[in-house]
Amino acid sequence: MDQAVLLSAPLFAGMKPAEAQALLRAMTPVEMPKGEPIFAQGDTGDVLYVIAAGKVKLGSLTSDGRESLLAVLGPGEMFGELAIFDPAPRSATATPIAPTVCYSLGHDDFVAWLQDKPAASLQLLAFLARRLRRTNASLSDMIFTDVAGRVAGTLLDLAARFGQQTAQGVTVVHDLTQEELAQLVGTSRESANKALSDFASRGWIERKGKTTTLLNLDRLRRRAR
Ligand code: CMP
Repeated sequence: MDQAVLLSAPLFAGMKPAEAQALLRAMTPVEMPKGEPIFAQGDTGDVLYVIAAGKVKLGSLTSDGRESLLAVLGPGEMFGELAIFDPAPRSATATPIAPTVCYSLGHDDFVAWLQDKPAASLQLLAFLARRLRRTNASLSDMIFTDVAGRVAGTLLDLAARFGQQTAQGVTVVHDLTQEELAQLVGTSRESANKALSDFASRGWIERKGKTTTLLNLDRLRRRAR
């Protein structure tokens, strides 16, 4: 397994190599098949995960029973830390949307390790602050930006994290169904699809299954504003 990916996680940011190796030794690799939830919203849990390969969606149920996606995370990203820092039921359901390998770390090992590591604690605070900032930004998009603007913004975000530069543009293997993409945008499948079809007919994107190529980043950026 590529340790460089794991070591790029916020959990390891700014750590001395010996400290990082000690923490890695306390972690256990777990292979996770696509579609099988790792944990469900409301579960109790005392383990956090760092993704070494694959992708995980974090879904939460709205009060009327609909599912919305809080995030799609990929290699080097971490989830499940909230239940560790603030013991409470899991705030979302985590499900791999591609074959995934995660490294898990239990609460007791982690807290013991963190005791005399103020620099690592600060890095974690910075990570949580960034996540809150990002959540606030998407909350304000939900209020002030129309569906097509949010679809453009979501495609750009997925491209920045999972995209590969190709001759035509940026190709993103997002592994999301149309329904999941709509849940991530926070709209119905029909509305998300209408925006995607419009972008495709203007030549801004090209769609093929769970892969989208962004052909005109400039226009998408302007539409996302
Ligand atoms: P936990 O509550 O233990 O389990 C669900 C996890 O989803 C949670 O920890 C976070 O790691 C993650 N999560 C919750 N909300 C968000 C969000 N808005 N963006 C990204 N990840 C989130």
